[in-house]
Amino acid sequence: MADTIKDLHRTHLCGEITKNDNTKKVTIMGWVQKRRDHGGVIFADIRDRSGIVQVVFNPDLDNNSFAKADELRSEYVVALKGEVELRPKGNINPEISTGEIEIKCEELRILDKAKTPPMQIEDDIDTGEDVRLKYRYLDLRRPKMTQIMRLRHRVTKATRDYLDENGFWEIETPILTKSTPEGARDYLVPSRINQGHFFALPQSPQIFKQLLMVSGMERYFQIARCFRDEDLRANRQPEFTQIDMEMSFVTREDVFEITNGLMTKIFAEADIEVPNEIEKMPYDEAMARFGTDKPDLRFAMELKDISEEVKDSEFNIFSGTVARGDQVKGINFKGGADSPRSKIDEFEEYAKLFRAKGLAWIALRDDGIKSPIAKFLSESEIEAIFQKMDAEKGDLLLIVADKASVTAAALGNLRLKIAKENDLIPSDVYKFVWIVDFPLFEYDEAEDRFAAKHHPFAAPIEEDIKKLSEDPASVRADAYDLVLNGEELGGGSMRINNRRLQEKVFSALSLSEEEQQEKFGFLLEAFDYGTPPHGGIAFGMDRLMMITAKTDSIRDVIAFPKTQRATSPLTNAPSKVAKKQLKELGISILS
Ligand code: AMO
Ligand code: AMP
Repeated sequence: MADTIKDLHRTHLCGEITKNDNTKKVTIMGWVQKRRDHGGVIFADIRDRSGIVQVVFNPDLDNNSFAKADELRSEYVVALKGEVELRPKGNINPEISTGEIEIKCEELRILDKAKTPPMQIEDDIDTGEDVRLKYRYLDLRRPKMTQIMRLRHRVTKATRDYLDENGFWEIETPILTKSTPEGARDYLVPSRINQGHFFALPQSPQIFKQLLMVSGMERYFQIARCFRDEDLRANRQPEFTQIDMEMSFVTREDVFEITNGLMTKIFAEADIEVPNEIEKMPYDEAMARFGTDKPDLRFAMELKDISEEVKDSEFNIFSGTVARGDQVKGINFKGGADSPRSKIDEFEEYAKLFRAKGLAWIALRDDGIKSPIAKFLSESEIEAIFQKMDAEKGDLLLIVADKASVTAAALGNLRLKIAKENDLIPSDVYKFVWIVDFPLFEYDEAEDRFAAKHHPFAAPIEEDIKKLSEDPASVRADAYDLVLNGEELGGGSMRINNRRLQEKVFSALSLSEEEQQEKFGFLLEAFDYGTPPHGGIAFGMDRLMMITAKTDSIRDVIAFPKTQRATSPLTNAPSKVAKKQLKELGISILS
């Protein structure tokens, strides 16, 4: 029979006992990190979520406690009483908060035994992620993971406190709902009662939060779970959490001000300073200078447009591209001139992944210019390129001629690859930027129609509304993303609050009247009953956590995440279900 904690009251957490507690009687409870037998005296490190403390067991312990201490193994659960004493000078461990003291045990109880765990319960292990996720409850015992969960709690609490202080109400919205238009695939839930009908799990609470504005709630927020069936990457999960907000009677400046304050509070939990006024950059500028709408501003290597400089060149690839109305752009890899040919070939292959047809280069080496294209360029053209690209000896210029979307993607990504490979990105620097004035639509080549760049409820910028029918591509949205160090933290917009304009935007998206009714009829109808001007934003909580916890995997900041293949090794979900269950739902499996 295991011991119990009857009549024991935990007085301290392991990691919080310091030399100020010297001579105090304490009762602690936790797990055995390690037991060491020092010939007659036994030491054990006891761990709870606050940290680790060392306990000493002397042979003169009564009620069998010394014999029990001998039985202790890693991860046994114990409770013990003892007296805090200072460690002898030579035994002080400055690495841990409790390193100056130890507890002289007076009574030990073993509350539960443990098998040898399949992984070490320590930081800096090289255990594969499959094992870590299968035994996630053990993985979470590791101090680093425990601290991330604590930080996540702190950030959630800071968010709730701040938003409450600013007049936001936390309101829950349905999980079993109708398809929402964030552009990913839906997770569907079959209805038993209405066979052949399905709920969709929300990709975001977007429509409900707008309806709450129609309801007069004025300021809403929710720490909301969102579900998107999309291809997963390092910073994406099929279910993830948003800090979701919506406000009535505001302009975008009000949204910026409120969210700036929120970010300041959140990042303070990780000692990261947020500027009082975050820089704003129009989408077009971000694309032109960095090739992406989530620029990493911690380093330069900006894209330079040399179309003008090469438009009359004999090098057809360049002049022809400019003649077609496309562009020639390049980046300057400072100090890269001596990159071996194999490296440059690798850059070219990389650029091709983003649909570049090739990658022209000019290396300004000590012994002269090396380049496969220099022979096609005149001296004055080369000089003009150098000037535009700020080139000097030692530099490697990498150039792509193509459509704007291709030069942006190829060079924007190459810029990041080179910066990472060459340690050009300073750590512990945090560069926030608002990207504003996104295009309202983007052209979907596969479907041959316009799609909403963000979602179809973003309001067009007022002066662009008149261009909605004849030139939709040029209409800007009153939409914004907050970007930090190349990562999109959140995005939102001012919304359409008028039925006619909303219908016009749906039509520009090639939604027929029937489709509009079927999908969003309830929203359009709501707009008929007095809708305040409103806008909002949603932040990716998991991404915020990745940055504040300084980890590069989104799975590290979620207690029970899915794998890259959208499965759970812990529960084995998703899994097959009984035939009977399917029958009740009126579903049969095709293969
Ligand atoms: P959006 O689709 O931009 O906007 O999402 C907002 C933020 O959520 C995070 N995010 C994700 N995080 C982890 N895994 C994912 N699969 C994932 N997808 C998105 C990102 C992103 O910036 N309803 C709108 C917001 C609004 O208009 O108010 C929306 O959902 O950090
Ligand atoms: P080619 O004449 O195809 O051998 O190309 C000569 C050089 O131009 C090679 O270094 C190619 O990588 C480069 N190149 C080809 N197409 C492009 C392009 N669209 N943009 C930039 N460089 C290119």
